[in-house]
Order: sequence, then structure tokens, then C-alpha cells
Amino acid sequence: MSERDGAASKLEIEEAADLILEADYAIALTGAGMSVESGIPPFRGPGGLWTKYGEPPMNGFQIFMADPKRAWEERLAKQNDELYRPLRVAEPNAGHLAMAELEAIGVLRFVITQNIDDLHRRAGQKQVAEIHGNWTLIRCLECVRRVPWGEVNLERLPPRCTRCGGLMKSDTVAFGEPIPADALKLCAEHSALADLVIVAGTSATVYPAAGFALQVKERGGRLIEVNLYESDITPLCDASLRGGAATVLPQLTRVIAAKRRAALS
Ligand code: APR
Repeated sequence: MSERDGAASKLEIEEAADLILEADYAIALTGAGMSVESGIPPFRGPGGLWTKYGEPPMNGFQIFMADPKRAWEERLAKQNDELYRPLRVAEPNAGHLAMAELEAIGVLRFVITQNIDDLHRRAGQKQVAEIHGNWTLIRCLECVRRVPWGEVNLERLPPRCTRCGGLMKSDTVAFGEPIPADALKLCAEHSALADLVIVAGTSATVYPAAGFALQVKERGGRLIEVNLYESDITPLCDASLRGGAATVLPQLTRVIAAKRRAALS
């Protein structure tokens, strides 16, 4: 924790930037804290949804599979729920844009996000796996084909895949649901190559997502944390930058871009 009101100091940002520039294959693992400054509440910690309403049932997927038609009827009935309003109105924040810039200048190779809010993609991030799905998509449970909500016929529930006839559900991964194999494969491939992980806005308590950062650390890689508070992974981090993602990530990106320009000139 730095001296000034806990916010990451200039020196801490510089040191983290140097570690990131030294890396051969830097990736990021992001969580709900990335989108708090876009108006989407986190799950845990201050203002967290689970903090307020308690954790949801851990068998959401089993409930869906027991009666998909009913589950779809309940989901559609909630479409205009207060719960979804933050997702509907959210815009990418400066933290998302900074991460997309780090990819554009060739520093950040891949983002594993636990967020379903689509904000990394909307910020321009190209190399990203949404390990817990994307709330704007509907996925076939058989062939894993993903389709935007507006392109799926919801007159007959549950919707069936027009390619293979499989059962379809929201791409958002429910508790108890296996992580889609294609997303998991991408995360495993890129974390196997990584020698540094920027761990931003996550409590690092949910697996397999948190495990990808731990694997890199166990192989001798480095962890750089960006978090408003301490997290479970803070003690393992080579640098832990205290502050909001929408403040710290732009600061970090500005320093990295300047150092890269200086090195290339
Ligand atoms: N900037 C950076 N970090 C922040 C900010 C912010 N403005 N605000 C909060 N945080 C941090 C919190 O300190 C916390 O460590 O973001 C983290 C949010 O943690 P969680 O709410 O647990 O979110 P996440 O880690 O993404 O949860 C993982 O759990 O419930 C499941 O599927 C859900 O994907 C989610 C998974």
C-alpha cells in the first residue's frame, strides 16, 4: 500500500510498467471490478450483489436443465428487471479502453475476463475469452454455437439451435454449468504461454479463472494486481496497484506507451 490515501504511487506505476515491458507474453485476468466504473456493481466486497442479496443457488444450471421451458419463461419475465438495467446502459470505461490500447501496441496478448458485460469487446479488445459467457448471446449446449439474442426465435421455448437442434440457453454461464470447452481451451493455451498476468478488478476467488493466474505464478511468472482493495491474490502479486481500474489502468498504459516510444526511438 503506498503512502498517499492508498492510491498507487507514480513509482509503483513505473515499477509495474517495467515488469510488464520485461514480459515476453503478458495476459490479463479481469473481473467485475473492471466494470464498477461503468455502473455495474461487483458481486463481493463493498456494494457487491452477493453482499447485498446473498449468493445465488449453486445449482442454477441443474435447475435450468430440469425444466428449460420454465427457466426460459422466468428469464424472459425478468428481461426488464432492475438487475439487467446496469448491463443495458453500461459503456466501456477508461480501464477497458486502456487494456484495448495495451493490446493494440502489442504489449497485452490476451484477456481472460470473468465479466459477461461485453465491455472489453465494445472497447475494442480483440484477443479475449469470456470464460463466464456474454449476456448478449444465446449458446447452443450441444454445438456451442453463439447467436445474438435478437437473432433467436423466442416464440417457442426453449429455443432450439437451427444448426444442430440442440437446446439453447443464455451464454451467461450459470453456477454448476461447465465452462464452454472453446473458452476454456483458449484460456489454457494463453495462460500456458504467459509469463505475466495483469489481475484487474477480481477477488480471484472463483475457479478455474483464478487458477490461470496462479499457474503463471507457480511457473515463475509475475502477477500485477490492479484493485481498489486487497484481494486473496494480493500476497502473491509482484506489484499490487491500489485504485480504481478506470484510473490506474490508464496511468499504467500511459507510462508503458511512453517507455515503449522511448525504447523504439
Ligand atoms: N477497480 C478495480 N477493482 C475494483 C473496483 C474498481 N473500481 N471496485 C471493486 N473492485 C474489486 C474488488 O475489490 C474485488 O476484489 O473488484 C473485485 C470484484 O470481485 P467480485 O465481485 O468477486 O467479482 P469477480 O472477481 O469478477 O467474481 C468472479 O464470481 O459470482 C461469480 O460469475 C461471477 O464472474 C464472477 C465471479
